[in-house]
Amino acid sequence: MDKRIEGFSKLTKKEKIDWITKAHFKNPEAANQSLSSYWNTNPELQKIHDEFTENTLTNFYLPLGVAPNFLINGKTYTIPMVIEESSVIAAAGNAAKFWSTRGGFHAEVLDTIKVGQIHFLFEGNSDLLRSFFRKNKSLLLASTDEFSKNMQARGGGIISLELIDKTELIPTYFQLHLRFKTANAMGANFINSCLENMASKLEELAAIEIGFSKLKKPLEVIMSILSNYVPECLVRASVQCPISNFTPGKGGNGKDFAQKMVQAVQIAKHEPYRAVTHNKGIMNGVDALILATGNDFRAVEAGVHAYASKNGQYTALSDAYIKEEVFHMELTIPLAIGTVGGLTKLHPMVNWSMELLEYPDAETLMKIVAVAGLAQNFAALWSLVTSGIQKGHMKMHLLNILNQMGANETQKKEAIHHFKEHTVSAQSVGQFLKNWKS
Ligand code: MEV
Repeated sequence: MDKRIEGFSKLTKKEKIDWITKAHFKNPEAANQSLSSYWNTNPELQKIHDEFTENTLTNFYLPLGVAPNFLINGKTYTIPMVIEESSVIAAAGNAAKFWSTRGGFHAEVLDTIKVGQIHFLFEGNSDLLRSFFRKNKSLLLASTDEFSKNMQARGGGIISLELIDKTELIPTYFQLHLRFKTANAMGANFINSCLENMASKLEELAAIEIGFSKLKKPLEVIMSILSNYVPECLVRASVQCPISNFTPGKGGNGKDFAQKMVQAVQIAKHEPYRAVTHNKGIMNGVDALILATGNDFRAVEAGVHAYASKNGQYTALSDAYIKEEVFHMELTIPLAIGTVGGLTKLHPMVNWSMELLEYPDAETLMKIVAVAGLAQNFAALWSLVTSGIQKGHMKMHLLNILNQMGANETQKKEAIHHFKEHTVSAQSVGQFLKNWKS
């Protein structure tokens, strides 16, 4: 069967499924059944999901779990987390519980500025362009009124507009560089709408600028888009406690433990191979909450990792140190996120997560997300410098292995009991089931 198709997006959902299962699957009926078994039984709910994107065939489930006991700036939260990695939520819960009796987490938003740019080419001399810009700056700003008036009423809007000469990088390349505040919205639509309107105005004004009339080619806009690099949209989360109270359990020595934690962070500060994994652990917490609250995890990931290399070398996002016998750990990350718009009202589980968090504003959500990242980092380093991660990880992964091996409910129950005292591996679980069957 020919695997190319014209006009796929115009087919009905049923036609799409029929075509795709026939063209790509050995058993079209079974493939069809797999898709429909993941539909929501409530057709209205299913329709909401169908309409999120084009060519939706079914839903793709990820678990939504919660981690309780997060004391943040004196208030206790239960955090919703969407993640498939088995040990992440347990780790978050452990870190939350540990810090809840040691003063909790502190978090502060350092700033909330976002960036957008109009990239354009201009062949004339830069003084000519600068004077054109000075003369027309207020008209350029006014071209966004349709969108920014509304945003200003909500406490946001355009904060600055600058002309930047980039001709040293690429001949004739200039930018209009804009900084925005977007209140409780992530602001992508607002920023991009402002930029596109302003870009049209820029070309329109340049076309009638007498000083430009001798140029062979008028000013030419290449593109207008927000930047996901947001080093001025920052939040910091931190914890601290006297090292005398900083015990890893089972009679461990607080000072040794604290020093090892600090060393682990130092290694990640200096060694990029380690830094990437260190930061991946942070993003386990960040992404899980970003997904649960319907925010754009790709934007957050891109911005966070760019920020981790802001000084020219990729480094750890968190820091840890001991000062006057007190252990400190902190995390500063850029987070351009929102609590209105996007999926927040549309996706029932996002709405549920927002209610669980008591409908935070964007700044409060930034704080909670940064705390989730710090908690995850703390929990990962704790395991790494004590027992190693495999023990806890494989314990949590046990159910996945049992399910893969087709264990029944009684076997699962017995296995969970048995592996409290034994090391989990695919082989040991296989052996356990074999012994059981024989
Ligand atoms: C696994 O998902 C995350 C860790 O590798 C993070 C780290 O090494 O810090 C445990």
